Amino acid sequence: MKKNMGVVPAVYPMPVLMVAAYDANEKVNVMNAAWGQICDMDKIILFIGKGKKTWLNIQESKAFTVALADEAHTDVADFFGIASGNKINDKFERTGYHAVKSDKVNAPIIEEFPVVMECELLEFLETEHVSGIVGKIINVKAEEAVLSENGKIDPKKLRALMFDQFQNGYYSTGEKVATAWNAGIELMKK
Ligand SMILES: Cc1cc2nc3c(=O)[nH]c(=O)nc-3n(C[C@H](O)[C@H](O)[C@H](O)COP(=O)(O)O)c2cc1C
Repeated sequence: MKKNMGVVPAVYPMPVLMVAAYDANEKVNVMNAAWGQICDMDKIILFIGKGKKTWLNIQESKAFTVALADEAHTDVADFFGIASGNKINDKFERTGYHAVKSDKVNAPIIEEFPVVMECELLEFLETEHVSGIVGKIINVKAEEAVLSENGKIDPKKLRALMFDQFQNGYYSTGEKVATAWNAGIELMKK
């Protein structure tokens, strides 16, 4: 028997994305964003509140990076979602984390997070109901330590965080339970 839950954003899991961008003086800022998703194979959309420091920085620099937060860096990932660069001038510096400039786009790469997408701003998407930031993925960088023998990113090594909106939890990923485009193949044969 299902119970009615009312209006709940019941998509699980949500990603834990670390969105980093420079201000006009190339000062680094990073925010935690769960409302974001790949759209098309080379594009990403982020739903970032207008006026947040990251939103302002992307408007200024026209570029950003999106890293996947992993289990080893949960505390800082969460801090990036609590603190705002609009209010805390040393938001990034107080974490002790390290940033280098991307060689592909005008945005910082946070060294501690193992996988990062380097993105150029395509557009601010404004409709009556949706306000999104669309970026083109120019390149992805990944630490060798999270690659599998076939040279691709291995989720079991990455241990990326997932976020749930029901209980406000962070969860780690890792166990593969099945292969996509394959687990349902027997039903195709019926
Ligand atoms: C788990 C989590 C997910 C979040 N996801 C988003 C999001 O997708 N969009 C958004 O605008 N704010 C989101 N936030 C809140 C921002 O990270 C927060 O407002 C932050 O202070 C913004 O930083 P900034 O002003 O330095 O850019 C999230 C916070 C947490 C803890």
